[in-house]
Amino acid sequence: MALTSIIKGTGSYLPEKIMTNADLEKVVDTSDEWIVQRSGIKERRIAADGETTGTMAIEAAKRALEASNLTAADIDGVIVATTTPDRTFPSVAVKVQGELGIAPGLAFDVQAVCTGFVYALATADNFIKMGQAKRILVIGAEKMSSIVDWNDRTTCVLFADGAGAVVLEAQENKNGLDGQGIHSTHLYANGKQRELLQTSGGPATTGDAGHVLMQGREVFKYAVSYMADVVEETLQHNSIEASQIDWLVPHQANIRIIESTAKKLDMSMDKVVVTVDRHGNTSAASIPLALDEAVKDGRIQRNQMLLIEAMGGGLTWGAALVRF
Ligand code: UT7
Repeated sequence: MALTSIIKGTGSYLPEKIMTNADLEKVVDTSDEWIVQRSGIKERRIAADGETTGTMAIEAAKRALEASNLTAADIDGVIVATTTPDRTFPSVAVKVQGELGIAPGLAFDVQAVCTGFVYALATADNFIKMGQAKRILVIGAEKMSSIVDWNDRTTCVLFADGAGAVVLEAQENKNGLDGQGIHSTHLYANGKQRELLQTSGGPATTGDAGHVLMQGREVFKYAVSYMADVVEETLQHNSIEASQIDWLVPHQANIRIIESTAKKLDMSMDKVVVTVDRHGNTSAASIPLALDEAVKDGRIQRNQMLLIEAMGGGLTWGAALVRF
């Protein structure tokens, strides 16, 4: 019997502070109209001074455990997708492990920028399918506000902060595609495109974290085509039609990219979870934040089929097919 990883429960955390487009008009030369038209973002959450990627990850993890009716004692691994760790080392994952009192076991961060959650989910899924872990906390958490240049209007209006988490649990799947769990994951990177979206520094070059630099128009173009390719590959790999997908849960970078993927799949926007208008681009946190929102408000129901996809710096991109 094949082992699969089911999503036992979800949780998320958003900082209290809301920054609207009107607030940003006071920071850089921009307008609500430009931001809404080009990206679909109306407001975003910005972490308070004491809040870090780690503190947000811990809160999201606690909520995911609660939703799963589990405690720290039930968890044997922690994987955090982040590009904005509290410190260069140790990882955010060990902070979560230590603060929640999870017993020694695997704990590490995955860095694939906005595709980070899909990479982390795939990594955890493989550990579970190999029988090396039973329950893994998979978290996407970012404090992007700490690495944007607040004088650069081309990036600071887009990125934001937050965290989302899922608990994956090993289960036997007797029902193939009809069974719950992660059915496939598809990961890609094209390192030749790493200068399209990068930071201006890092520990081994400038000695600081640097700021986000993005060639937006180029990234947009690749985002649209890579998303279309990887969702098509995911459907073909599982021999299913787009009409069998109940929910598209995409990375939330830009409403126009999301709409383009939905259109390629001939999916109505009613079947797409959209948070970009209120969350902005929270990088690796955006998918688990969107997932948790739609689970908690009752849109996503047990046994529905989810198509998850993301694209980000690297360039990296990926998708996952999951029966919830
Ligand atoms: O999450 C990881 C992956 N990231 C993405 O997927 C982001 C992909 N890219 C995008 O979403 C879009 O390219 C942006 C939202 C970043 C930009 O939209 P765009 O339609 O591609 O605009 P653009 O970069 O071509 O800029 C158009 C104009 C420029 O002026 P000129 O050169 O036409 O005179 C910019 O200088 O808009 C100007 N501009 C702004 N104006 C007002 C750029 N940023 C702003 C701003 N406010 N914040």
